[in-house]
Amino acid sequence: MKPRSILAAACLVLALGAGSAAAQGTVKIGVIAEFTGPFADYGTQIYNGMKTYIKLNGDTFGGKKVEFVVKDTTGASPELAKRLAQDAVTLDKVDILAGFGLTPNALATAPVATEAKKPMVVMNAATSVITKQSPYVVRLSHTLPQDTMPMAQWALKNGIKRVFTLVSDYGPGKDAETEFIKDFKAGGGTIVESVRTPLANPEFAPFIQRAKDSNPEAIFVFLPPGSQTIAFIKGYEERGLKQAGIKIIATGDLTDDGVLEAMGDPTLGIVTSFHYSYAHDSPENKAFIKSYVETNGTRLRPNFMACAGYDGMAAIAEALKKTGGSTDADKMLAAFKGMHLTSPRGPISIDPETRDIVQTVYIRRVERVNGQLVNVEFDKFPNVKDPGK
Ligand code: PHB
Repeated sequence: MKPRSILAAACLVLALGAGSAAAQGTVKIGVIAEFTGPFADYGTQIYNGMKTYIKLNGDTFGGKKVEFVVKDTTGASPELAKRLAQDAVTLDKVDILAGFGLTPNALATAPVATEAKKPMVVMNAATSVITKQSPYVVRLSHTLPQDTMPMAQWALKNGIKRVFTLVSDYGPGKDAETEFIKDFKAGGGTIVESVRTPLANPEFAPFIQRAKDSNPEAIFVFLPPGSQTIAFIKGYEERGLKQAGIKIIATGDLTDDGVLEAMGDPTLGIVTSFHYSYAHDSPENKAFIKSYVETNGTRLRPNFMACAGYDGMAAIAEALKKTGGSTDADKMLAAFKGMHLTSPRGPISIDPETRDIVQTVYIRRVERVNGQLVNVEFDKFPNVKDPGK
């Protein structure tokens, strides 16, 4: 062997040696999410939730110490998300892919999970079909059909008969629209009109005017929380829909705890269906909120994405305990399937057939409690599976 190839061979052995030593002691989790741009709070909430779990439970599970490798998709950028996932696997040698606030980023990454045989833990993205895109996807957040179905039932039971639907024109919005229309019509309701607003830079005024002109009893809404939900509520208020007697009904994405204060008093009285409320009354939620604030030193109120980040990390920890620290995708998926956890949101489990979450969906109303705007739960639908499957 020439000296240079001996050197190369030595480097290779060193690299392999370092790799396997690392593999023995640590588990690397690639956190791929939105940390800048209009959806920056999504990644922040998810990652803050994950760190909160570690703060409360330590960083070693099944004998392996958890390390995070964080990657910023900067928004809804499927090509970038896919490349970041590939880099995470090939360059950073992550064992698990996690995060995913937005559906397009999760959909683009699923084939990477399949090819690389890595577990992929979805901590928000909520379009029903995501779990079908790879056998290694498991979801600890929610699906839009799951959160929508109880809203349709509640509206029918409460005498609402004519509804206008307005959703964001991509996966979760289409899922919400389809489920709401199906359930509402099956219960005898009438859909007066359905509109979809663009995911990028929507202008709500013309859609809100159309809703007013069609004179429904309520508008059913799904919008991704943040600047869009703030703009929608502002338009609803300015165009006098409340005064015209047109109610809002929605999934809790609209009255997200993280942006509720920014939307202010016009949200008072809005009824939504959702799986997590900051105001959920349980010891687990109180401990979660206290630790979230201590861990992250932030004024951002933990929301459903933070809760799913926390639960996603809990599921990874429990799976590692079951596999004795192995991150083999088949072993980890076997551990996830049928898993039960007590989440800050209430009891949750992973459906062994679909790898999707089963959970209680609550009906809530926005109220001011101790000076804070919160979603107060007043009814619930236990053990809801994704009806989209
Ligand atoms: C999604 O892109 O899947 C998504 C984003 C925000 C939500 C729900 C779903 O509140």
